[in-house]
Amino acid sequence: MFNSKFGSIPKFYVRAPGRVNIIGEHIDYCGYSVLPMAVEQDMLIAVEPVKTQTLQLANTNPLYPDFSTSSNNIQIDKTKPLWHNYFLCGFKGIQEHFGLSNLTGMNCLVDGNIPPSSGLSSSSALVCCAGLVTLTVLGMNLSKVELAEICAKSERYIGTEGGGMDQSISFLAEEGTAKLIEFSPLRATDVKLPSGAVFVIANSCVEMNKAATSHFNIRVMECRLAAKLLAKYRGLQWGKVLRLEEVQTKLGVSLEEMLWITEDALHPEPYSPEEVCSCLGISLQELRTQILSPNTQDVPIFKLYQRAKHVYSEAARVLQFKKICEEAPDDTVQLLGELMNQSHASCRDMYECSCPELDQLVDICRKFGAQGSRLTGAGWGGCTVSLVPADKLTSFLANVHQAYYERNNRNLTFEKQSLFATKPGGGALVFLEA
Ligand code: GLA
Repeated sequence: MFNSKFGSIPKFYVRAPGRVNIIGEHIDYCGYSVLPMAVEQDMLIAVEPVKTQTLQLANTNPLYPDFSTSSNNIQIDKTKPLWHNYFLCGFKGIQEHFGLSNLTGMNCLVDGNIPPSSGLSSSSALVCCAGLVTLTVLGMNLSKVELAEICAKSERYIGTEGGGMDQSISFLAEEGTAKLIEFSPLRATDVKLPSGAVFVIANSCVEMNKAATSHFNIRVMECRLAAKLLAKYRGLQWGKVLRLEEVQTKLGVSLEEMLWITEDALHPEPYSPEEVCSCLGISLQELRTQILSPNTQDVPIFKLYQRAKHVYSEAARVLQFKKICEEAPDDTVQLLGELMNQSHASCRDMYECSCPELDQLVDICRKFGAQGSRLTGAGWGGCTVSLVPADKLTSFLANVHQAYYERNNRNLTFEKQSLFATKPGGGALVFLEA
């Protein structure tokens, strides 16, 4: 296909994987550690550097049209999350990092098997893959951590205020192990998952593209506002505080104490923008221009109490999960499953990032033998991840298939992409011609 598109053959290939987040949802952008693993599914790009300053992109999937642009004038349209914009994010991130105003051009053919809009991070995999392609064309070197940080930042050109989980695991993943990803500074530590149980991904088949709606950024802003109100309540300088983790670190208290402080400082009733302004002593104009993102300017209410409660409790669950994996008591699988179930309940009730189909799917998964089941990724659709004892895997897959997919006539053509067991895959790679 590369040959028929560009009349030449590729010089090298790059792959970058998607991920499944095992636990730690919507807390990376609050500064807290998360626990994902890479999946085998990935983005794969075939590349030929060219002498002209033209970037030509094609996709093996006919749903994604060809795109071409001058490599010295990269424009990323925030209003439409078109596929090629994710490539441009990675490209621009590297270009800017090295302070280059123009780059040589390249012909790229993109292929991928991560189901899109399903919470498995196909978009970040494309950003990371494009970043590594660009680095390779330039003949430059960067560490995996630097690459992850650049790509996390440059993906925000698309308009979503994501944390760094997806890009970090795409670069730092290693086959056979999940990772605890910590931020500021970014680092990844192996987490040995229990033998005797398998992680199964099931797609709710409700598509969720987090760049196409404002759900995601609203949550980021609610956490930001909650952090500022909590900081102010405790007499901290709140002006520069952006993340809930900063409040905890500045106060030097435990996550449990942060939950109590949240209960004292915030009320469960939603906050209007006016109330937020009066708590902080700022004008509506200042709230909009100095704190909120462009697509959250007109949000009528902010649920600060619920969001902060989710974040601090979820951050604690991640640490407990890692500890149980390390200590590996006899009832490891059961304990991990309980944490995953609590995580789902908190995402559903406090963070409100689930949907009826995801709730139904986790119920079905638990009914047919999962010790724990939860939504994974941003939510509002996409996939669940379930922890299933290995000896129950075959019947689990058959039963869930029947109860969720056959009964509802869901997406059976993509059956393989919808319900599958997964194990920790490796990170991004460049394949050069021998
Ligand atoms: C998206 C973001 C991540 C993370 C998850 C939710 O995947 O890109 O940074 O916030 O949602 O945990």
